[in-house]
Amino acid sequence: MPAKNIEELIALCKRRGFIFQSNEIYGGTQGLYDYGPLGVELKSNLKNAWWKSIVYERDDVEGLDAAILTKSTVLKHSGHEDTFSDPMVDCKSCGERFRADQVPDYCKKEDLTEPRQFNLMFKTNIGPVDDGKSFAYLRPETAQSIFTNFKNVVDSTARTVPFGIAQMGKAFRNEITLKSFIFRVREFEQMELEFFVRPGDDDKWHKSWVESRVQWWNDQGISDMSLELYDVPADELAHYSKATVDIMYKFPHGVEELEGVANRTDFDLGSHSKNQKELNIKANVLNNNESNSKLALQDENNNWFVPFVIEPSAGVDRGVLAILNEAYSVEEIDGKERVVLKLKPHLAPIKAAVMPLKKNDENIVSLAKKVKDNLQKLGLGRILFENSGNIGKNYRRHDEVGTPVCITVDFESLDNETVTVRDRDSMKQERISLDGLSDYLQQKIKS
Ligand code: GAP
Repeated sequence: MPAKNIEELIALCKRRGFIFQSNEIYGGTQGLYDYGPLGVELKSNLKNAWWKSIVYERDDVEGLDAAILTKSTVLKHSGHEDTFSDPMVDCKSCGERFRADQVPDYCKKEDLTEPRQFNLMFKTNIGPVDDGKSFAYLRPETAQSIFTNFKNVVDSTARTVPFGIAQMGKAFRNEITLKSFIFRVREFEQMELEFFVRPGDDDKWHKSWVESRVQWWNDQGISDMSLELYDVPADELAHYSKATVDIMYKFPHGVEELEGVANRTDFDLGSHSKNQKELNIKANVLNNNESNSKLALQDENNNWFVPFVIEPSAGVDRGVLAILNEAYSVEEIDGKERVVLKLKPHLAPIKAAVMPLKKNDENIVSLAKKVKDNLQKLGLGRILFENSGNIGKNYRRHDEVGTPVCITVDFESLDNETVTVRDRDSMKQERISLDGLSDYLQQKIKS
């Protein structure tokens, strides 16, 4: 059962160290969050799962990790300087500022200014002189540096269509209306793939990427029942898009976008390319006299063409929120409430907790430490040595943070080299020999 409301999730995230408000000791900053000891593991497991499926398990995608600070020329030609803005109104009575289409009910809407466009990009100064000219933007999406590196990647890997370039990392938007915890924030992470195809093959690839992205979210524990596909109508499409399908998730506050899969046509490569006139670009692009690179490929007859781009673009933070919500479950056991995070084991922040039954018994503690060290070497993720001594409380705490397996080392372990393993979901306990423990855990984490 998903969380009843967002407050339940926020409380769990703070209590157990998943997510904290940024700058909290100084009153906090709206729209900024910090990932704590467990959040950092969950987020990195999610990103690793994406990278593994998009880059390692395919043979047609390369990776990239480009700079966050972005030259304004890039964001001029991408269209962001002109169009990446929201209409904003000020309320003269309550003194607050809202997106024109999202004025909340508590505002009487009697004394609103006319809407004004507000660009969402953050600017910062580059170099020692603050002359207003030498500035850069904090990238509003990871996509643009993929396009500006297109030729570098093609030249260094000899790729031709169809192929993709994947990148994950921070993006920044000075959002006017923040929403629902980490759902809409000002600093977030994206996992973006730009998949380059031959013009004419784009519709087929678009469909196939929508299907494979839904399957991936299923594999992360998000059931089909919680997902919806939204075919974005023509009048809502972004300036670069011919068609977009949003993968929507039933967040606690409503059904909203988790990932967008867009057909960006030849807009991006066409916009950033030199010699545009020779390239028969189909999209409506700004004239570019600043680029020094022809972002096009040659076909088998040596004719130049600009590839079309299919872009599955997912938010890491929205992914974390959806996964936490989906995994959150409350059960009644013998009249008592048990909160369990039924995370897929590969996403769990702690893969196993190893606990000595008696924290003061040197032999038991030393064997438990050895067990932890051996399991840690498997490279499955974090294995925790838990020496608080109260096994019942440890079980409950680890249920709440989604640890798939708890391993208890006791007196019997010293005699016959076995330990008790306890499964998070079934709560079943069984005795396993130390010899078989690595295999047992490896199987569990892969499941
Ligand atoms: N490159 C395309 C692009 O950036 P987008 O729909 O603006 O498209 C893609 O963003 C994804 O990034 C969204 O589906 C969402 O998951 C995430 N995202 C966008 N803005 C966000 C914000 N302010 N806070 C958290 N996540 C955000």
